[in-house]
Amino acid sequence: MNPKKPYSADMATSTKVLLLIIISIIISSSIHPSSSSDPTPSPWPHQFHSILIMNYSGANQIIDLWYDWPNGRNFNIIQHQLGKLLYDLEWNNGTSFFYTLDSTEECRVAHLDVGILRPNWLDGANYLGQEHVDGFLCNVWEKVDFIWYYEDVVTKRPVHWVFYTGRSAHVMTFEVGAVLEDANWQAPAYCFENKDAEKNPKTHPVIADGYLETSVQERTLRDSKLA
Ligand SMILES: *[C@@H]1O[C@H](CO)[C@@H](O)[C@H](O)[C@H]1NC(C)=O
Ligand SMILES: *[C@@H]1O[C@H](CO)[C@@H](O)[C@H](O)[C@H]1NC(C)=O
Repeated sequence: MNPKKPYSADMATSTKVLLLIIISIIISSSIHPSSSSDPTPSPWPHQFHSILIMNYSGANQIIDLWYDWPNGRNFNIIQHQLGKLLYDLEWNNGTSFFYTLDSTEECRVAHLDVGILRPNWLDGANYLGQEHVDGFLCNVWEKVDFIWYYEDVVTKRPVHWVFYTGRSAHVMTFEVGAVLEDANWQAPAYCFENKDAEKNPKTHPVIADGYLETSVQERTLRDSKLA
């Protein structure tokens, strides 16, 4: 009787089993590259103010972004370089006002089927790894070929994002909890008087502004994809 033989046979079998398990783990992880241990993007704070530097095909803009989820509203105040100051006020009921506040009194009202972004709108984004952007080490995600989103690994603040349209944002400030006073959310009277505004792009140059089309297009697609 040799007590060593069955023992070493057992060892061989368990080594094979262990190898099989390891191999199957390797195979399954390469089939499903995104694992539950991947970092997830931080939800947006329910209220914040951000200054964004935008670049769209080489045209520069500064956007003052006021995100206000509890009040169902989102404001983009857009300064085109050496150009127009445009107000893009979005309500969660789908109504958007695009206007100027100067003597041109331009306004366009759009009714969309979609509201503003939800705080958790990045849920389900695909993790792509880490990358240095604007001097910050960022986690990077992509969601439904709509947006590429870069978040600071350390502070979890957004640093940069790029829309599928090529419009990109560099986040310059991120003030969590900042709220714009109610009075500033009132669209001007001419938005409600100018009934032909939606129909006559020539007399309302704001309508011909590339920003508006891009914004409506992004917003329409955004919620059909992100919802
Ligand atoms: C803006 O984007 C264009 C490409 O669309 C690029 O060539 C240019 O360098 C960018 N400008 C800045 C200031 O990042
Ligand atoms: C949505 O809400 C805004 C702000 O209260 C309002 O001006 C607009 O008329 C509303 N739109 C609809 C379709 O009810």
